[in-house]
Amino acid sequence: MCGIVGYCGPKAAAPVLLEGLKRLEYRGYDSAGLSVCVDSKVEIFKRAGKIHDLREVVPEDLPGTHGVGHTRWATHGEVTDKNAHPHVSADRNIAVVHNGIIENFSSLRSRLTEEGYVFESDTDSEVIAHLIQKFYQGDLERAVKQALGLLKGTYGVVCMHAGEPGVLVGARHGSPLLLGVGDNEMFLASDVTAVLAHTKQVIHLEDGEVVRVTAADYTATDLRDRKIEKEVETIGWELEEIEKNGYEHYMEKEIFEQPDSIFRAMQGRIDQENATGHLGGLNMSRGELLDVQRVRIIAAGTSYYAGMVGAYVLENMARVPAQAELASEIRYRNPIVERNTVYFAVSQSGETADTLSALRELQRKGARVLGICNVVGSSIPRESDGGVYIHSGPEIAVASTKAFTSQLTAFYLFTLLIARMRDMSLEAGVSFTKELARVPDTVREVLSRADEVRRVAERYYQARNFLFLGRGINYPVALEGALKLKEISYVHAEGYSAAEIKHGPIALINEETPSLFIVPDDGLRDKVISNMKEVKARRGPVIALGVDGDNELADIADDVLFVPKTDELLYPYLMVVPLQLFAYYAALKLGRNVDQPRNLAKSVTVE
Ligand code: G6P
Repeated sequence: MCGIVGYCGPKAAAPVLLEGLKRLEYRGYDSAGLSVCVDSKVEIFKRAGKIHDLREVVPEDLPGTHGVGHTRWATHGEVTDKNAHPHVSADRNIAVVHNGIIENFSSLRSRLTEEGYVFESDTDSEVIAHLIQKFYQGDLERAVKQALGLLKGTYGVVCMHAGEPGVLVGARHGSPLLLGVGDNEMFLASDVTAVLAHTKQVIHLEDGEVVRVTAADYTATDLRDRKIEKEVETIGWELEEIEKNGYEHYMEKEIFEQPDSIFRAMQGRIDQENATGHLGGLNMSRGELLDVQRVRIIAAGTSYYAGMVGAYVLENMARVPAQAELASEIRYRNPIVERNTVYFAVSQSGETADTLSALRELQRKGARVLGICNVVGSSIPRESDGGVYIHSGPEIAVASTKAFTSQLTAFYLFTLLIARMRDMSLEAGVSFTKELARVPDTVREVLSRADEVRRVAERYYQARNFLFLGRGINYPVALEGALKLKEISYVHAEGYSAAEIKHGPIALINEETPSLFIVPDDGLRDKVISNMKEVKARRGPVIALGVDGDNELADIADDVLFVPKTDELLYPYLMVVPLQLFAYYAALKLGRNVDQPRNLAKSVTVE
């Protein structure tokens, strides 16, 4: 979603801001802008469209060494130049970039309009600029705090004033903001990728914190001016990790990275000797783990589907009742929090608004909530009671791929840990851990067959409707396969339990609606084959994704893709990869913007 970058230091600000905005592109946006302070004047440039559209209107030799930039993902008001950020105060001295939503903007706007302030945009954010002007008496930080005191909603905000060159003021309430500490230069950003090319030293702001920044220094306070000591953290990501490194798209790179990212998620966490999982960050004693009687998983999007696989594995292997639920639903459902229940909040970004709010609501009710997250230092891991970092490295493509397989890994490890404390024998544990440790290699083998997936995708890419069908543990994989295709190719795709098609979707079957069946060699294989035959009998094209050696598939399906054999419970890893590739190759063939699909955002920080 929206992205923020601010700079003050010795360099010309505009190129630094443009480069920072480019790094934020992946979050999804529809317009962009920047503002630089030049000769005690705030210069503003903004454009609906992409960063290269903005670049065209920013003079190459623009002086000015402090400024703010923004990528906007529209919430209030259409995608137009005037609705892009930064927004300026009526006296044109103050520039503001804002992420989040100001819920009481309409009453604030009416009041300000009555007081004579003229609004230029349709956005909620513009009220912040006018409010700051209203309170400004020579001290930007003071005026920002007074303005923020009137806001209801969420914000990550950065402001500057023409009369205070070299000063930026940033604040956070519900929308992430961090300070990048450089060598006599400072950055404010909503996301670490915007500063990684300059510094790895960052300070994460908490809700309610305000930071005043100059090139050499910063002070953090709360809205009541109480000073806050902040810790500088070192980011573990390398700059190369946010580059494409020879791949055409980030999504392609991230799909092909999975043998390594899965390995990183399991590294040091499989205790081969005792055949158990080792997860240091759970903050739970052995007694507490033993007392777990129920697991509930909350998440959104792809993370939710990983949670569904997790729930299946937990019930099947550890015999612990487990259920995944959409965070957006649970947060308004007045959930019942029971004793001895562990909640997992699963999120690649750690910033998804629905998941974060659900976590807070559950904690208010006394729940223990653990995080399964990728982005270190993001809100969910900071606010959870413990958890697991999946260490996928930066995931830049909007459509999530490598985070999914690493989230699975976190669930398998947690399951192993509590299953071995319960009924799972050492022998069963040893055989499972061996197979789990082999997953990076088997996924590598699946990836080596990418050309076969490309061939099939190129055969079917023109279909306007698609069904993805699976059962049992592969049912959520079918949902994820359909999600991937619709996200990046804009082809309508439905994920369904193969058994359920006769209750509705079979009505959609005709020569033009292909069905992709996931057919592992588990106890449900024969049932899935029957479902395939039902589709074939109605002239529906069928693609089967089966297991090496299953020769019967070719007799029924029009096209067959194979994955290597593994443990029944581990097929989600192997089945999801061809589905990711399928979506990728189909979208490529359709000429879509694979990494930044229309209307989508990488991290949805508003409701
Ligand atoms: C957005 C992204 C999806 C992602 C979902 C949940 O919709 O486009 O790719 O799965 O948010 O994000 P999270 O960061 O919480 O995993």
